[in-house]
Amino acid sequence: MLSVKKLHTEYPDDRGQVVKAVQDVSFDVPEGKLFTLLGPSGCGKTTTLRSIAGLERPQSGEIAVPGTVVYSSEKNIFIPPNKRNFGMVFQSYAIWPHMNVFQNAAFPLDVGSRKFSKKEIEERVMRVLSAVGLDGFAGREATKMSGGQQQRLALARALVMEPKLLLLDEPLSNLDAKLRERMRFELKRMQRELGLTTIYVTHDQSEALALSHEIAVMSAGHIVQIGSPRDIYERPRNKFVADFVGLTNFLEATVEAPEPNNSGYRVDSSIGRLSVTSLDQFAKGDVVLISVRPEDIELYEQRPDGLNVIEGKVDLKVFLGEYMDYQIKVGEHQVLARVHSSFKAPVGDTAYLKMNPEKCITIQDDAQYRKAA
Ligand SMILES: Nc1ncnc2c1ncn2[C@@H]1O[C@H](COP(=O)(O)OP(=O)(O)OP(=O)(O)O)[C@@H](O)[C@H]1O
Ligand SMILES: [Mg+2]
Repeated sequence: MLSVKKLHTEYPDDRGQVVKAVQDVSFDVPEGKLFTLLGPSGCGKTTTLRSIAGLERPQSGEIAVPGTVVYSSEKNIFIPPNKRNFGMVFQSYAIWPHMNVFQNAAFPLDVGSRKFSKKEIEERVMRVLSAVGLDGFAGREATKMSGGQQQRLALARALVMEPKLLLLDEPLSNLDAKLRERMRFELKRMQRELGLTTIYVTHDQSEALALSHEIAVMSAGHIVQIGSPRDIYERPRNKFVADFVGLTNFLEATVEAPEPNNSGYRVDSSIGRLSVTSLDQFAKGDVVLISVRPEDIELYEQRPDGLNVIEGKVDLKVFLGEYMDYQIKVGEHQVLARVHSSFKAPVGDTAYLKMNPEKCITIQDDAQYRKAA
């Protein structure tokens, strides 16, 4: 549905130099899917979205939807934003305070190049207001609505032109935690029901994991990994992704031998010998980094049977309701384990870590991305 190829977008900075905001960014979004650009502040998410919308003019690359190339440096094509028929909700969504809900939602139809009859406007506006659950509010002054309702109104306004593509830049950023979670579900339901091809921008990893069919993790202008939420979370390809998306423990290790029974290796890690899983090929003696998520570590008071059992001492514990975080000291290293609150070892006691080899994965170290971010 949308294809972005080798996109480069730059800005001039104050001192006459260039800021390479987006570099060599390529991805495809299938029809009806929600694709997320995820990354820390300044990594180039908004710039990518604005380039797709036509609000920025890239240096090079190609952006196309079926049947239309909207930007191509090679073919010298640049279709202006109002001709692209994309709907957009900006990072700081703006509703018009002097208009009521109906007038706000109808605004793009009033100002667009195509003329709509009064009846057509009425039909379209009521359809999108009902899609976002605001059909009962049409006559209400827009400022007399809650933040979440205003957010939905901004979304209705983006939908009213029936865009081929919906571009959402942190559309839930101004809401409190509870409302954000509820809107997350509503947005997901609406996107799926209406089959809207959507590009979603966020720096919030849990939002990205909850909403997306596919996620592109960005760092310093580059895409560093593209995959399903599960791929990104369970199989991060590099240190930046493992660190940015969720909590993890990093362990330095040296490869000892391939593991005959699975697609992995035996390694000597900073906390002891482990069996680990890998998508990469290593030789004996290679230095690798192991990532293991806190929730993938089991804790026992008595030594359990099986692979990857390491003895440590409880150093600190934090009660978090349903679960608890334990800092376990193994030699000089601290390992974070997140376990059910029913595990109750006191600080100073011995605890045994047990890690499923499938959950201990090797990742590529990528110092340059971490520095640049
Ligand atoms: N108009 C501009 N002029 C100059 N530099 C800019 C401009 N807009 C963005 N930049 C720079 O381009 C880079 C990418 O910015 P962008 O707004 O795309 O980041 P972002 O990922 O959306 O961040 P955030 O999460 O904070 O919104 C940053 O280094 C930023 O300072
Ligand atoms: Mg932004």
